[in-house]
Amino acid sequence: MSLVEEFPGVRVRAPGKINVFLAVGGRHDDGYHELATAFQAVSLFEDVYATHADDFTIAVSGSVDVSGVPQDESNLALKAARLLASETGYPGGVHLDIRKEVPVAGGMGGGSADAAAALVACDALWNTGLSSAQLQALGARLGADVPFSIMGGTAIGTGRGDALNPALARGRFEWVIVPNGVGMSTPRTYGELDEMRGDAVSADQVADPAVPIEVLQALRSGDARQLAEALHNDLQAPALRLRPDVREILEFGEAQGALAGLVSGSGPTIAFLVESRAEGTALEARLTMAGYEAIGVYGPVHGARIV
Ligand code: C5P
Repeated sequence: MSLVEEFPGVRVRAPGKINVFLAVGGRHDDGYHELATAFQAVSLFEDVYATHADDFTIAVSGSVDVSGVPQDESNLALKAARLLASETGYPGGVHLDIRKEVPVAGGMGGGSADAAAALVACDALWNTGLSSAQLQALGARLGADVPFSIMGGTAIGTGRGDALNPALARGRFEWVIVPNGVGMSTPRTYGELDEMRGDAVSADQVADPAVPIEVLQALRSGDARQLAEALHNDLQAPALRLRPDVREILEFGEAQGALAGLVSGSGPTIAFLVESRAEGTALEARLTMAGYEAIGVYGPVHGARIV
């Protein structure tokens, strides 16, 4: 194929995320928890190439270890394509070629980004013409983080995390991400939190959580020091209980120049907020020297879009 020859399909890029604030409320009967979270889309991307096919097929590769990603019907991107086809009456299939950059089972919404990208890509490939709001509503049926990966930027999520409102955010925040070779199961982390809370875990026993004004002000100011003060994740304590090794990374990064660090989503990836890209590069070097993998990213970035 010559370099100028056109790619005969649609390519969509969708971002991973960091929850700069995450408070978990009570558990509903379906097992999901009431959330109040502030999402920031960051510059680690999933690329999904969609091409016409009679059936629904998938291939997964990437710069991260993809051995834990299912390549069968349980893959979230494949489920997304099938859902869009059944909702719109599209009779054909699709081949999805997924290139991953977001750590797998890391708490950064990589699987959700794949589903987000697949929805946007298939909608364009098949000419089904859904609005972004309609695609977000379909995405919410696949996973709580899918609508945010379509929207991107900075947003407040309530409900299961899928009722979104864009938040004002100035400038760019610089982060250093430390993935972990061993992924974590999201339901397991939530389950551990319930266990720590004891008996009173249901949604009618626990007050609905809210995002504090300090978080919104920090995002609006663009001031990394202010945001560092406001970072919080209710899933951090259960994640660290399940994975005590992760605490060492957190303490090391904070001692080596990060303004603050936190477990991303349900873990085990750690996100360190730094003052500037130069500080980030210095921290990356210290983490690498200590034997950790470290990746510099920034946010906010755009949501799922055709490239
Ligand atoms: O929505 P998603 O598929 O990413 O969620 C994975 C799991 O995380 C759910 O099955 C549930 O156990 C837990 N979860 C939750 N409350 C939420 C979001 C996720 O308990 N609001």
